[in-house]
Amino acid sequence: MTIGIDKIGFATSPYVLRLEDLATARDTDPEKLSKGLLLKEQSVAPITEDIVTLAATAADDILTDEDKEAIDMVILATESGIDQSKAAAVFVHGLLDIQPFARSFEMKEACYAATAALDYAKLHVEKFPQSKVLVIASDIAKYGIGTPGEPTQGAGAVAMLISHNPRILSFNDDNVAQTRDVMDFWRPNYATTPFVNGIYSTQQYLDSLKTTWAEYQKRTGLALTDFAAVCFHLPYPKLALKGLKKILDKSLSEEKKDQLQYNFDQSILYSQRVGNIYTGSLFLGLLSLLENQPQLKAGDRIALFSYGSGAVSEIFSANLVPGFEQLLDHKRMEKLDQRTVLSVADYERLFYEEVDLDPSGNQVFEPATHQTFALTEIKEHQRTYQKVEK
Ligand code: CAA
Repeated sequence: MTIGIDKIGFATSPYVLRLEDLATARDTDPEKLSKGLLLKEQSVAPITEDIVTLAATAADDILTDEDKEAIDMVILATESGIDQSKAAAVFVHGLLDIQPFARSFEMKEACYAATAALDYAKLHVEKFPQSKVLVIASDIAKYGIGTPGEPTQGAGAVAMLISHNPRILSFNDDNVAQTRDVMDFWRPNYATTPFVNGIYSTQQYLDSLKTTWAEYQKRTGLALTDFAAVCFHLPYPKLALKGLKKILDKSLSEEKKDQLQYNFDQSILYSQRVGNIYTGSLFLGLLSLLENQPQLKAGDRIALFSYGSGAVSEIFSANLVPGFEQLLDHKRMEKLDQRTVLSVADYERLFYEEVDLDPSGNQVFEPATHQTFALTEIKEHQRTYQKVEK
């Protein structure tokens, strides 16, 4: 039985900040962002957009009524949770009207958790082949005004429907994970933005990649020649490019190197315009590759490198399934073009707006234009979401 990704959807917020504008406002050379980090834009989420609305929008895009009857597990992976107790997956389950006898919960390990969610979904479908599992990676990455991480911020969610006989990618049983207890990026409960040891975090990312890849090769006997492409967690694309160069074997033919480089370039196209979406970044890279590389074909094997600060990393692979291209959305770039461009002042106002409750814990919100789901009210500290009529 094959198990893997049957459908994949993506959502981002309706606003965008151009990094050349940010560079000007921060008195930075724009090429530091465009060439030093390989970034162009970042999605900006207003207060009415959070991990629940992004997740619901990404999933709503792909699910049929039949899927909603078959889904018996909803896993939401996130670093930017909205409640210390209630799982965002429960809100999403309700908003999407998924049948009630389902297990819904949240998973956390910085940017890594969606990979663990996929592993768990695979085990569940192996045991119950008629089940479908909805895995959503949803995050809003906020570092703060003027911080080194500011240009890498972003917002978005990737939803994946995991089933047997999947129509996009089938997972191989070759996962190799690594845990190392390091403080490269973390966010205590009392902090709204993370503490980051920036350069140290890049070293941890690259060293986790190198050592996990070595162990993966040792255990599986596979080499880069067995892969059509490698997708990376994309905190910002330049770091992943360094990662690709780190694992490129000197003995590889120029043709193979060119193929891997070209496919890497296709895998960063969406992240360059959306920014870091933490748990979803790796899968946004995968989506970008699949939707922008028409030469990929059924049977091609793709490696995926997942990294979550703290730190947990994992390498696994999946094979493209015949007909996969029919399940994709080749108009994604046009949709990104439709976001409203913000001035830096408007970005600062929107992105850093805080909930301002009255003494009883109430506040009403006006959804932004072009939102599919929105936070419309907090009533006695309870968040209320609605599908926005278009
Ligand atoms: N023109 C072209 N390039 C320029 C330039 C210019 N004028 N000025 C600088 N650059 C280049 C630098 O040479 C450098 O390139 P190399 O890395 O190839 O040397 C690059 O731009 C970045 O410049 P700096 O080294 O000065 O670093 P920075 O101030 O931009 O900060 C960062 C980089 C520390 C990673 C910062 O973006 C950050 O803190 N980011 C958040 C943490 C992060 O993303 N870590 C990644 C690993 S952790 C993870 O993966 C989990 C996660 O998602 C957060």
